[in-house]
Amino acid sequence: MPNPRRLRLGVNIDHVATLRNARGGAVPDPLRAALLAIEAGADGITAHLREDRRHIRDEDMARLKATIFKPLNFEMAATDQMLDIALKTKPHAACLVPEKRTERTTEGGLDVIGGHDYLKPFASELARAGVRVSLFIEPAIEAIDAAAEIGAPVIELHTGAWCNAAIEGDAAKAAREFARIESAAAHAEARGIECHAGHGLDFDTARIISALPQIVELNIGHFLVSEAVFIGLGAAVEKMRAAMDAGRTCVVRSDSD
Ligand code: PXP
Repeated sequence: MPNPRRLRLGVNIDHVATLRNARGGAVPDPLRAALLAIEAGADGITAHLREDRRHIRDEDMARLKATIFKPLNFEMAATDQMLDIALKTKPHAACLVPEKRTERTTEGGLDVIGGHDYLKPFASELARAGVRVSLFIEPAIEAIDAAAEIGAPVIELHTGAWCNAAIEGDAAKAAREFARIESAAAHAEARGIECHAGHGLDFDTARIISALPQIVELNIGHFLVSEAVFIGLGAAVEKMRAAMDAGRTCVVRSDSD
């Protein structure tokens, strides 16, 4: 039986903006990248407006929202300034992420337990504006329960620790981290929360994680933009789509065995 849940690919175009900002001009344009990614099979576009504006800028968000016809996923820290921008932009979805100025990338999941009292009204305000709220969290049962208490309809599991272990060839750690993701995804489904995943994924890890039927969306950026340097963005997105489809099929085979 085919897996009824198609796995969506959200393409994160932050690092097209990183490259643009390295020279301070207008190219490469993240909007052009978004349109190309959609043409190549992306189901949505993800962009992170960081507090320090190191890649995506306010006007990029506005242009993306005005132009793309697929869902826009606005990654943001839970700050008043970002809330104002999100309420004006009205993206399809907002993924709340922790943010530290000194980090190179989002290093861990949100503190959904300690941050409950702040995050709950924050998420409600976005939801009232019609924005689908997602919380970027560690693949841990307690974090999912805390996300449920906050009332988030969606969580995104941070796959960074697993991907790093897989890339470093630490098989034991990779197996442990994958098991955490697997049980977190199952727990999210049991709690009625839609489950996404992302961070550090490449063709191999995307194929493997696609076998988890509870996960319905992957958000992938850095690796796709890196591959684009060599094979072009359209080809990189198509290859990623094929890897995800191949991984999804693995579920069908093992289910029917
Ligand atoms: N999902 C979230 C919530 C993120 O913060 C990021 C990084 O911006 C990604 C997905 C994509 O991670 P990567 O660029 O490593 O593919």
